[in-house]
Amino acid sequence: MTKKIETALVQGGRNPTKAYGFVNPKLVRGSTVLYPDMATKLDTGRHVLEPVDIYGLCGNETHFALEAMIAQVEGGTRCQVVGSGLAAITVPLLAYLKAGDHLLVPDSVYGPTRTFCDGLLRRYGVETNYYDPMLSEDAARAALRPNTSVLFTESPGSHTFEVQDIPMLARVAHTAGVKLFMDNTWGIQNFQPFTHGVDVSIQALTKYAGGHSDIILGAVTVNCDEDWRWLRFGALELGSYASPDDCWLALRGLRTLNLRLKAQGGAALHLAHWFAARPEVARVLHPALPSCPGHEFFVRDFTGACGLFGVVFKPEYSPEAVVAMIDALQLFGIGASWGGYESLVLPTTGTIRRSAGTGEFEGKMARFQIGLENMDDLIADLEQGLAALRAA
Ligand SMILES: Cc1ncc(COP(=O)(O)O)c(C=O)c1O
Repeated sequence: MTKKIETALVQGGRNPTKAYGFVNPKLVRGSTVLYPDMATKLDTGRHVLEPVDIYGLCGNETHFALEAMIAQVEGGTRCQVVGSGLAAITVPLLAYLKAGDHLLVPDSVYGPTRTFCDGLLRRYGVETNYYDPMLSEDAARAALRPNTSVLFTESPGSHTFEVQDIPMLARVAHTAGVKLFMDNTWGIQNFQPFTHGVDVSIQALTKYAGGHSDIILGAVTVNCDEDWRWLRFGALELGSYASPDDCWLALRGLRTLNLRLKAQGGAALHLAHWFAARPEVARVLHPALPSCPGHEFFVRDFTGACGLFGVVFKPEYSPEAVVAMIDALQLFGIGASWGGYESLVLPTTGTIRRSAGTGEFEGKMARFQIGLENMDDLIADLEQGLAALRAA
């Protein structure tokens, strides 16, 4: 029986009879696994693709519980947890690519993904080209080369929230025998990557899965045996590992993911509309608003939104005015990452890097992550922040 997300988040990744009747799975820490005899030890190599205890690096039941849960949330068959969201990007790229390959990456990609492509991947002989995340099907086909092996996507884009046409990109990629990767961190339970044609789905569990700003963790999910072999062997060759403590916390965070996403996504949407009606604001970059590039794909493909969006201020407001607003805010922490229970803000103009000509916005920008605070309190704080913007 395919379970609905609310049920999957409660029932998944646990087997009380295996945990001596306790509701939650055990937190297991360990390196050495002891075998009853040599015959069993010699047999272990054959099971490296399965969730069995072989050696600490291959994972233990705490990892396997979380992996089973993420695979279910993403609608895939198998998942590999890794030490960070960034590792969930770099591990599969290293696993699938080889020297001489060509990689396509959206111009709106998370900054450290770009750093990895232009740094280590280039040094290892992989060439990356950046494409407009809003490109047409013809342009997508034209961007492919005979040696393109991965088409990377991130939807919505980091800081600027362009929603990509994933089914179209899947069509283009698969016709050419290219693998489609997606950083699905923003969508998490609200975008089903495999029903839209993705081959490799990436999650920074640091964000909403953790939900409490206290872990760093990533997950890569696939939907067939062939991809699982690429991913699993690549992760093992790289010695990739995730802390069981963080996995246990992520599993606990996931139990309330649906509630937190509903509350924070709803509050963010309310504030996105609030910002859109403000005289200081030129445009709100929230996928659920028509002012966001790719809004039509959001409406078609997503079942909801998280609490992260961007605001473009009118051109008359300087970078210093945006900084004055941010400094005036009392309830919005100034900090990177997102998906925790607390509200955050960051200026984004000047931090985004573009090379495919897609970085032109009408004014200075800021990114907001909306937490679980009271809405009236948040609005009162934003009112006085905007007063500081106007006064600067
Ligand atoms: C879209 C996206 N992907 C990946 C990451 C990386 O996650 P982590 O901080 O766990 O390395 C981030 C972090 O901000 C992100 O925003």
